[in-house]
Amino acid sequence: MKVGLLTSGGDCQALNATMRAIVQTLSFQTQDKAVFYGFLDGYHGLVYNQYRRLTKQDLLDGLIQGGTILGTSRMPFKEIDDPLEDGTRKVPSMIETYKNLGLDCLFILGGNGSTKTANRLSDEGLNIIALPKTIDNDTWGTDLTFGFTSAIEIVTRYIDDIRTTATSHGRVFVIEAMGHKVGWIPLYAGIAGGADVILIPEIPFEMKHIVRAINHDQTEGERASIVLVAEGALSKEEAKLSKKEYKARLAKRQEPSVAYIIADQIARLTSREVRVGLPGHSQRGGSPDAQDRLFATQCGIEAARGALEGKFGFMVAQKKGKMCRVPLEDVAGKLKYVDPKGELVKEARYLGISFGDK
Ligand code: F6P
Repeated sequence: MKVGLLTSGGDCQALNATMRAIVQTLSFQTQDKAVFYGFLDGYHGLVYNQYRRLTKQDLLDGLIQGGTILGTSRMPFKEIDDPLEDGTRKVPSMIETYKNLGLDCLFILGGNGSTKTANRLSDEGLNIIALPKTIDNDTWGTDLTFGFTSAIEIVTRYIDDIRTTATSHGRVFVIEAMGHKVGWIPLYAGIAGGADVILIPEIPFEMKHIVRAINHDQTEGERASIVLVAEGALSKEEAKLSKKEYKARLAKRQEPSVAYIIADQIARLTSREVRVGLPGHSQRGGSPDAQDRLFATQCGIEAARGALEGKFGFMVAQKKGKMCRVPLEDVAGKLKYVDPKGELVKEARYLGISFGDK
């Protein structure tokens, strides 16, 4: 059995843990007859036939090693049919590499964009199995993606650290979490870290409500106020703009990110001292937490099981705690958003957390 693996898009904590599970399961189940080709830097390695042979030994530390031992890169799906600078056509070259190596299947560890390309390669006749990677947890068709729980842990600890200094100085901190266009990380970490205000793209905000929540904190005797904002959060006014108008607005933005805009307005509208905190790419860094190791391992086992059964064209997923498979064509191109009326949002509101909308 000849098996390809690649990691694509932004990295996250449990990529090596996932590859370890695939390699270990297939090696065990085939009595070490499976051969592994790890393509370098995502789809680029597949386009240019750049790979390293992988063995179980390469992934011995996979459970604890963050990043990806294969390297990764982004190859936007909307440009998939545009030739590369040197004229190379991406899809035909990827198919050629797969066929020349005589692969039986290719495991693609990626997020939304990568899954669209995975679906395209599957349509072209390659045996593809995708695995849901991203700290953003925005992959449609699965309740969980690997990388997510580690990112929540990092942001929660970041809030803990900020809280001590914010309390000493009696300051408001606006902390910005990643998540691209969705608010899963700030929603979970905000509740776990005890944020006073959580701002997510799915619930557009108005400054007057944020200010009211902060003022309320002070009357309750809280010295620190923590506003946790998603990098993609937007105001009610911005939410009314067309996609094109919103993009144009973002392009004109002077501030480095939304946290600075909100911090600036809080400083103007209250008498409080305000600071911005950015955990940034540390949210994708370091070792996976225990939950991510477990889920990544389950994903790897399920993917390997699919390959041994000769089943392809799906993404491994978890729904209601159970591992399952979702057809790639159903996943490609869809995002999983936070439900503004969902249980967790309701619980947070009941606790008194403000989402800045009322
Ligand atoms: O998709 C993961 C993610 O970390 C997003 O949360 C974020 O918007 C983006 O990647 C950052 O990308 P880059 O690593 O290219 O700066």
